[in-house]
Amino acid sequence: MTVQTTRAGEGERPVVATDAFRNAMGHLAMPVAVVAAGDGGERDAVTTTTLCSASVDPPTLIVSVNRHSPLNALAERSRAFSVNVLTDEQATIGRVFSDARRTGERRFGQGTWTTGATGSPLLEDTLATFDCELVQTLDYGPNRILIGRVVAIGFGEKQPLLYRDGFFRRLTTS
Ligand SMILES: Cc1cc2nc3c(=O)[nH]c(=O)nc-3n(C[C@H](O)[C@H](O)[C@H](O)COP(=O)(O)O)c2cc1C
Repeated sequence: MTVQTTRAGEGERPVVATDAFRNAMGHLAMPVAVVAAGDGGERDAVTTTTLCSASVDPPTLIVSVNRHSPLNALAERSRAFSVNVLTDEQATIGRVFSDARRTGERRFGQGTWTTGATGSPLLEDTLATFDCELVQTLDYGPNRILIGRVVAIGFGEKQPLLYRDGFFRRLTTS
């Protein structure tokens, strides 16, 4: 294993370079989720890998979204967002919702979408779908961490889509 630290100034704590951190995180196999929000007929969604359970009781999820993303304004306005965890048959959806050339409504041409109780768009045939009430946000670095209380859940029995070292991947047994 390579341990990389960069010494800061004398007497300061060591730090790691951003690239080393990005490389290390890239080695992890992460589930892929499309985070979506909607308000007044407007909707937006973004591919993410920063999904994490914050608490089981109350059922709460966190996801980290770039502060410049238009999704944040929609989540703030509706006080809600959804987390749609993709199956290994939905890699195309993962690509479309991370395509900077295709924004907002134009992304929703992929997949079958309905509207949840919160008003957020919900994707069908996912591994799991969480409809969330936005309870708190936290700005950290370039991102906004959305904290969502789960108000409705759907899930299927398919296989997860994973992301590792720059590629969408499938889970295999060994
Ligand atoms: C596998 C993968 C994971 C990503 N994870 C995140 C994430 O967790 N948070 C985020 O803000 N962007 C993430 N992105 C980047 C966004 O999907 C991408 O920048 C998207 O175009 C942003 O759309 P927007 O400009 O409408 O916000 C990820 C992209 C990919 C391909």
